[in-house]
Amino acid sequence: MKNLNLLASLLLVFLLSSSMLLADEKPESKEIPMKMPENVKAIVDNSCFGCHNTDSRNEDAREHLDFKTMHQLSDIKKLGALKEIREVIEENEMPPEKFLEKRPEKELTDEQRQLLIDWVKKESMALMNKEK
Ligand code: HEC
Repeated sequence: MKNLNLLASLLLVFLLSSSMLLADEKPESKEIPMKMPENVKAIVDNSCFGCHNTDSRNEDAREHLDFKTMHQLSDIKKLGALKEIREVIEENEMPPEKFLEKRPEKELTDEQRQLLIDWVKKESMALMNKEK
């Protein structure tokens, strides 16, 4: 009986700590300060943000594009970043193929591609109109 209690407490500790770990991850993954519709944010969060953020271990990715600081770019630079995003989506270059071999669930669907491109277009138009 004592052993059973011990086992139960160990299990409880394990469950608690793992749920705390999960809870920790959540707010972090939602931290995309760039203003974008929720459905677009969900796609970026799921398929891009892991590599393209300030704390990413993927230096190459984070130097090319950082979704955590993108909102702080000048309008011109933001337009440039949006243009690059559109290009990599249209040419099916992101997420990288090598990564998709391991995480096929991260591949964008046609619908997600379209949503991203529509957002890029809309956001770019808004920025260009602001420039005038
Ligand atoms: C597994 C990590 C990883 C993921 C996930 C990922 N990228 Fe990248 N990305 C990279 C790396 C590495 C580079 C730089 C080297 C290159 O261009 O291939 C890059 C480069 C880029 C560039 C710059 C391209 C250029 O020509 O300079 C853009 C824009 C980009 N990614 C957008 C995205 C978008 C949008 C997503 C989500 C749909 C995404 N990435 C998902 C790793 C990633």
